[in-house]
Amino acid sequence: MIRTENLRKIYQMGNVEVRALDGVDIHIEKGEFVGIMGPSGSGKSTLLHMLGLLDIPTSGRIFIDGTETGRLTDYQKTMFRLYKLGYVFQDYALVPELTVMENVALPAMLRADRTESQYRADTVEILGKIGLCDRRGHLQGELSGGQQQRVAIARAIVNKPDILFADEPCANLDTENSRMVLNLFHEINEQMQQTIVMVSHEDWHKEYFHRIIRLRDGKIVDGGG
Ligand SMILES: Nc1ncnc2c1ncn2[C@@H]1O[C@H](COP(=O)(O)OP(=O)(O)O)[C@@H](O)[C@H]1O
Ligand SMILES: [Mg+2]
Repeated sequence: MIRTENLRKIYQMGNVEVRALDGVDIHIEKGEFVGIMGPSGSGKSTLLHMLGLLDIPTSGRIFIDGTETGRLTDYQKTMFRLYKLGYVFQDYALVPELTVMENVALPAMLRADRTESQYRADTVEILGKIGLCDRRGHLQGELSGGQQQRVAIARAIVNKPDILFADEPCANLDTENSRMVLNLFHEINEQMQQTIVMVSHEDWHKEYFHRIIRLRDGKIVDGGG
């Protein structure tokens, strides 16, 4: 479902070249829960941003579901993200002025193919799944870190994306809340065959992953598939 060919991302910092990704070939199947691991600065976030169509590679190709994403126009990419991809970041990235319910419903409201009654029902169902139905009217500031991340996950999956991308979603959480997030990922992977690509640098997270893609200095050192 995801395949890359000789992916490179080079940042030019003055006259210094940073090879954030240096010839990456990976293959991820539908329904896999894959961990991207490696030391700080090894290119994990850069890879996730490329795969999630949030940034463009310097060279190389990315195929998602057979579509060569580099051939999409900006508008097509936006639609591809809205209809096929979901994202979770370490800082939650919720809209502080909106309630839990509104934050989760937001991506569904943007879709032309979702009626109001449909996205309301989807939102309530997902809030039940993450155990935050009773907090639906609360604002971000009234929630704990773990609750905020659960809301962010609900928002990421409300449109039932083909692929869920998460960049160190547990980075700001304690062990108990990290487990809660990982168990939630495990559950949606099992129950909905949700493909998940998650960046982590915590060694103990690896017990949750089907496979680990290991990066070092922008290169795959293990598990590219
Ligand atoms: N926008 C940027 N401009 C310049 N260098 C960057 C930028 N983003 C990342 N880098 C560099 O690319 C390398 C990989 O970064 P990153 O993908 O964030 O690593 P990781 O997520 O594994 O910690 C690092 O050397 C980082 O400093
Ligand atoms: Mg990173």
